[in-house]
Amino acid sequence: MKVLIIGSEGMLGHDLVDVLGKENQISTTTIDTLDITDLEKTIKTVKGFNPDVVVHAAAFTDVDGSEDNADLAYQVNVIGTRNVAVACQRSYSALVYIGTDYVFDGTNGRSYYEYDQTNPLGVYGKTKYLGEVAVRDLLDHFYIVRTSWLHGYHGPNFVTTMLRLAQTMDEINVVADQIGSPTYTVDLAQCIARLIKKPAYGIYHVTNSDHCSWYEYAQLIFEIAGVEVKLNPLTTEEFGSPAPRPHYSVLENYHWKMEGFPKNRSYKEAVKEYMGLL
Ligand SMILES: NC(=O)c1ccc[n+]([C@@H]2O[C@H](COP(=O)([O-])OP(=O)(O)OC[C@H]3O[C@@H](n4cnc5c(N)ncnc54)[C@H](OP(=O)(O)O)[C@@H]3O)[C@@H](O)[C@H]2O)c1
Repeated sequence: MKVLIIGSEGMLGHDLVDVLGKENQISTTTIDTLDITDLEKTIKTVKGFNPDVVVHAAAFTDVDGSEDNADLAYQVNVIGTRNVAVACQRSYSALVYIGTDYVFDGTNGRSYYEYDQTNPLGVYGKTKYLGEVAVRDLLDHFYIVRTSWLHGYHGPNFVTTMLRLAQTMDEINVVADQIGSPTYTVDLAQCIARLIKKPAYGIYHVTNSDHCSWYEYAQLIFEIAGVEVKLNPLTTEEFGSPAPRPHYSVLENYHWKMEGFPKNRSYKEAVKEYMGLL
């Protein structure tokens, strides 16, 4: 297949290039070659390659920064995504849009299914949700892939942050009342490679299996790294981030399972493999 990867220099984008490039003819864009807030250029770029599938992994991903830069988050995550969807419409290309667990408010008391009510709390989640709406409104052939807590080799993430902090600090404060599923970008890219082979369009939750709090996640990271550091569990309120975040945003990979795709490995195994590469 011909696959265009938008946002190819992002953390996920890099692994999409590696994984999808193995069995597809790919073309890539970065923010320097295509700013998705430019509608005409987005249409022209997609038409120029005429892909079977566009994988849209570009976004304004600074969750806290979105609170102060709401216009920019809206421009990129809503208008930019709308532009990509219009371009796909014009080129008869299917679209993979990467969504987030932050479309949920985390008050469900259980893991979220694809059919559960969304209610994003912060600006980032709201703009990512409106990106989903644009995709659904404009296209018939789309995969909305909601994922969570990404870590990968090609971008800063919770694992690299913890290891960096431990180099200069004896004690690290970590939020202990937000629960989610850490997900490895290589595993996610492999799932997307499987998904696009099948015209089974729709909304999918795709994460590594099992879940933890950020505090438990930090414990695992330092256990694997063999680093001794004192971790202090804090509540979300005590930690005081600018953006509100869901307390429990574990994504049930239900549609994925119902389509007969195999269960993803545990985040514990994936984190271990990833840290072996650092
Ligand atoms: N990271 C997570 O934990 C997480 C969790 C759930 C869902 N997601 C979603 O997964 C996707 C990939 O995330 P990621 O962590 O790989 O993000 P990332 O590393 O921040 O990559 C996003 C890429 O988009 C580019 N970009 C920003 N504005 C753009 C624009 N106007 N036009 C074109 N490109 C633009 C960025 O370029 P610059 O770096 O130069 O700005 C960057 O290369 C995103 O849709 C994100 O919302 C991420």
